[in-house]
Amino acid sequence: MFGGGLKTQALRSRQQQFFSNLLKKPFSVGAVAPSSRRLAALMVSDIGPGSRVIELGAGTGVFTQAILDAGVAPSDLIVIEQNEGFVVLLKERFPGVTVIKANAISIRQHIGSLDGPADFVVSGVPLLLFPARRKVRLLSEAFRALRPGGYFHQFTYGGLCPVSRSVLQLLGLEASFLRFTLFNLPPAFVYRIQRR
Ligand SMILES: C[S@@+](CC[C@H](N)C(=O)[O-])C[C@H]1O[C@@H](n2cnc3c(N)ncnc32)[C@H](O)[C@@H]1O
Repeated sequence: MFGGGLKTQALRSRQQQFFSNLLKKPFSVGAVAPSSRRLAALMVSDIGPGSRVIELGAGTGVFTQAILDAGVAPSDLIVIEQNEGFVVLLKERFPGVTVIKANAISIRQHIGSLDGPADFVVSGVPLLLFPARRKVRLLSEAFRALRPGGYFHQFTYGGLCPVSRSVLQLLGLEASFLRFTLFNLPPAFVYRIQRR
């Protein structure tokens, strides 16, 4: 009971921090609330023990927790987040995980501690709000960090993939719709992007 109270308090404090960062940097945070656990479960589809994972834009760590709960070793996970406040919170919450304060676009400069190319990139960055040129940069960096056959998971609130067909084509990628959940604010779609 006492433990449950502490958990609720921690969750409330994470939500408060999310809202305060949202007010300061609405376009960078790009969401009205932290993602739900249901969405997090979809974002970690096929991730399991032994997977090497890079997470982009972790916020308060909803996906980070789901990645660890899927059996990924903390040493096999690198988190890149650009917001200082979230970085402090993530480091406190996940002491065994490498959390780096950086722009997701510079992925490859920061993944030296992974023991080989990544199997998955789990992206929480608001890709839909990125101009096309930044999307191209972020995706090309991500796919250089991924092994052949690796997957990039992205959620979005619109029904369409946040990466246009022309950008996918330019990079030799393809996107498939993975899952949808109503249990998120707002309801969300998960896409998987991979090499053709
Ligand atoms: C929509 S929130 C998602 C947070 C969390 N993954 C969740 O689902 O609750 C977007 C997050 O991406 C971070 N972010 C936005 N642009 C970024 C970038 N270029 N590099 C790294 N992080 C970024 C924001 O600071 C924020 O934490």
